[in-house]
Amino acid sequence: MKQMKLPNRLRTPWFAQVYQWGMRPTHFLDSCTQRYGDIFTTQWPALGPIVFVSHPKAIEKIYTAPPEMFNIAETYETLRPLVGDKSLMVMDGQVHHRQRSLVMPPLHGERLRSYGKLICNLTEQMMQQWKLGEVINLTSWAHDISINVMFQVVFGLDEEERLIKLRQKITQMLDYFSSPVMVLHHTAPVLRKDFGPLSPWGRFLCLIHEVDQLLYAEIAHRRQHPQLDCTDVLSLLMTARDEQGEVMNDQELRDEVMTVLSGKGVAATGILFGLYSLQKHPAVCQRLQEELDSISDPSDTNAIAKLPYLTAISQETMRLYPLTAVAMRVATTPFEIMGYEFPSGTKVFVNIYSVHHRHDLFPNPEQFKPERFLERKFTSYEYSPFGGGNRRCIGYAFAPFFMKLVLAKIVSRYQLKLTDDRPISLVRHAAGVAPDRDIYAMVTDYYHQKSANELVGVV
Ligand code: HEM
Repeated sequence: MKQMKLPNRLRTPWFAQVYQWGMRPTHFLDSCTQRYGDIFTTQWPALGPIVFVSHPKAIEKIYTAPPEMFNIAETYETLRPLVGDKSLMVMDGQVHHRQRSLVMPPLHGERLRSYGKLICNLTEQMMQQWKLGEVINLTSWAHDISINVMFQVVFGLDEEERLIKLRQKITQMLDYFSSPVMVLHHTAPVLRKDFGPLSPWGRFLCLIHEVDQLLYAEIAHRRQHPQLDCTDVLSLLMTARDEQGEVMNDQELRDEVMTVLSGKGVAATGILFGLYSLQKHPAVCQRLQEELDSISDPSDTNAIAKLPYLTAISQETMRLYPLTAVAMRVATTPFEIMGYEFPSGTKVFVNIYSVHHRHDLFPNPEQFKPERFLERKFTSYEYSPFGGGNRRCIGYAFAPFFMKLVLAKIVSRYQLKLTDDRPISLVRHAAGVAPDRDIYAMVTDYYHQKSANELVGVV
């Protein structure tokens, strides 16, 4: 029988819930699912009820619903100051569909595969600065490789003065946007007041203004000097045409470039969790090294990215550490899930984190065990690190490809050892989660001289 009342409303005070969700989202989701199971509701002032679901059948219903049944744009409001008004993220309906179909091709298929060499070369270049015995801050390293790769994927080679400047400014702005000082501004828009460049929001506005000036100048430069053979994302977006044969205007280009670059932080955290997991589990690392040794041509990046155990490692990393804990939707019509009926306007969060920690699907869910992805296939409702349906992450092919190549390059070259054995806790980082402290590792040895020599040859 259908029920009209909201399911499993949390009984703790709302400010305690908001605090937990804001600071330690996975801890919050763990305690709620342990207590209430697959469906529960929060009711926070100004946000109205939010229904969290973690049953695969319910998730299937959400991901396969007709696109017009759920909106999402309003849930990305916190990103609007960064990605702009024309970003696909802050659109719904036909406009979202149009922008998405223009932005997706440069990140998929042949285009994606063409970035393999770039990723490996940049990883190699950055690793060449490592010395045996040196302690590396893996957190900073992962953020550096992420911006270096993503910047070149988006803009092409960054050797010219104007691009070097643009990269510096974009890096500074993205780091500031996801810094702890901005966390409150993301959750409480009322704080977004410009009290001059020394105030937190004023500083962000200055940075974004500087980035915009350089970015619009870059677009103008490319319009004046078109280079037809360029395959970077911006060049491809400038020539992409929609179904009506229209190209994107300058603001759309600026906003979609920022949309793609906004994935830099989550891609970096994925790499960091991957590196951390490998160092924490030497047997897994060793099996991966053996798999990499079996490759006849170590410069074949597509062959590396297809390796089953490496793929399982990246899948297990994203299962255990959900970089984005929920996929958000707002119902545009009344709908029914798990026997409950909800009115139009209800917010529904697919609880990706909790479904990835279900005991029935992933026995001993706290254990890092890549083998589970070799032993069993999971549906896209049981395992969905990139969300699903028409709002699935546009980086769903790029991010694991990137992560796998970086991990492969590092473990076939060096042995690392974590300097701190304490387990990590997960805390809020921008829109996702991250370790509660920086991760450090010591470069203890080459993996073996043979692969070190071979890998130098890749560059
Ligand atoms: C391992 C890394 C990443 C993870 C786990 C991740 C996860 C997600 C998730 C869960 C969503 C919400 C999907 C939904 O609502 O169904 C999302 C959306 C999105 N992601 Fe990612 N993401 C990652 C990397 C990236 C990268 C590298 C980019 C940029 C190339 C990117 C760009 C986006 C965009 C633009 C959206 C909004 C899509 C839309 O609304 O149509 N993400 N991501």
